[in-house]
Amino acid sequence: MKKLNTVLNNLIKCKSPQELIEAGENSGLKKTLGVFDLIVLGIGAVVGTGIFTIIGSAIVGSSDGAGAGSAVIISMVLAAIASVFSALSYSEIAAMMPVAGSAYTYTYATMGEFMAWMVGWILMLEYAIGNITVASAWTGYFVQFLKGFKHILPSFIVNCPLWLRNDYRTMYEICNKYGWNVHDKMPFLHFPFGFEMPIAINVPAIAIVLLLTILLVKGVKESTKVATIMVGVNMFIILSFVVMGAFYIKPENWTPFAPNGLEGIFTGAFVIFFAYIGFDAISTAAEETKNPQRDLPIAIMGTLAICTILYICVALVLTGVVPLNAIDTQAPLAHAMRFIGVNWYAGLISMGALCALTSVLLIYQLGTTRILFAMSRDHFLPKSLNKIHEKFRTPHILTWISGLIVIICALFMDLNISAELCNFGTFTSFIIICVALLILRKTEPDRERPFKVPFCPWFPILGILTCLGLMYCKFSAKATSAYYFIIWLLIGIAIYAGYSYKEKRKEESGNI
Ligand code: ALA
Repeated sequence: MKKLNTVLNNLIKCKSPQELIEAGENSGLKKTLGVFDLIVLGIGAVVGTGIFTIIGSAIVGSSDGAGAGSAVIISMVLAAIASVFSALSYSEIAAMMPVAGSAYTYTYATMGEFMAWMVGWILMLEYAIGNITVASAWTGYFVQFLKGFKHILPSFIVNCPLWLRNDYRTMYEICNKYGWNVHDKMPFLHFPFGFEMPIAINVPAIAIVLLLTILLVKGVKESTKVATIMVGVNMFIILSFVVMGAFYIKPENWTPFAPNGLEGIFTGAFVIFFAYIGFDAISTAAEETKNPQRDLPIAIMGTLAICTILYICVALVLTGVVPLNAIDTQAPLAHAMRFIGVNWYAGLISMGALCALTSVLLIYQLGTTRILFAMSRDHFLPKSLNKIHEKFRTPHILTWISGLIVIICALFMDLNISAELCNFGTFTSFIIICVALLILRKTEPDRERPFKVPFCPWFPILGILTCLGLMYCKFSAKATSAYYFIIWLLIGIAIYAGYSYKEKRKEESGNI
């Protein structure tokens, strides 16, 4: 009994918020960021695959769920609502405890060791598995981009075989869609076989992740200037898509508005939620913000508002321009421009999308490395992983690990599955943030709160309920990603029980 009590006490052992705040104040990081920089960082992390690619699956649906049709704009509002309550909670906690580490750190301060480990583990879904989605989408736009040079490039590059530019699942889906057999001898099929199974390798996705990993190991400086240019290009491309496309809208394309009714709208909301992920990256810059108490909440809410308006405009134009059954799911915006005959602009969109996706890939891989770094510093993972490269001064082992996770998983996970899995992870971390806020209101009632969530506890409770509701939709549809999510949680619990718990005890006894 005594042993069980000790174990339970260990599981809920928290880091004190004061200790965290002091560590943040003394971190030595330069405080240079203002609201504008933070919004640029937020948009750089948020605008990417969701609006450039996943919007297609949210509208049309996939083998794992119905699409929302033009009602995707309602799905977007639902996803924004699920995000806004958590964004408010993030704002209150980040302004009160301006320390790096985001959800992982906040959980350590409120729910203790075990939950902190689980949140770190779940954040890997958001950052590392999310990157598989972005890398797959990158391939889609890369192929579109190459098509723009079909008069210059050799045909084997422009029409590169399916098996060299898709993962295993997507390749099967494409074959099913067009009624092809993997044994057919068509030139763009021609699959190699291993153990009597056709082989598929998403070479462009793997190549871009490898390239970014090498860059990150060499120490790419996160420069706000570069981010500002990238975000500027993004915004320009998206806004001009809206303006140009608006002239080609045919209102009859908006009917039927919701072809799959509520099921399509809710499934669409779950799927398009991916487009909103990333604003939490703003809170990771808390220690580098000039006036975090004021700037963090404004930047978080501002990013969310800008993205929601932008997304709804894009969705209205896309569904108004292209009939539902003709919407492309790999590069829908570029395809829409080709559909209305503006081919040169399709090329420009592909280029803009490649920029946007590359910056998301970079931010997310940095995020993965940072979280793994914090977890290993806290002795949840082997300390040896934290080694800094002698020449480049970067955590090279962790950077390679995060790159390899993406590369290996990209062999068998497709864009939709990895996006959904990433959504499961993010919904869970949002729920935990709302719970952390409720706990902090009880345990630290007197701590100064420069920003307060209005209508507490109702807003955080609504945040928890909307996230749970959207997760439930996918669970009730028995989606493959839902099973993967449960397996991911079980692996996390097993690693904690088999390794991390013991390492933490060794750390406490100074035996490490
Ligand atoms: N929100 C980010 C994207 O859409 C993850 O790529």
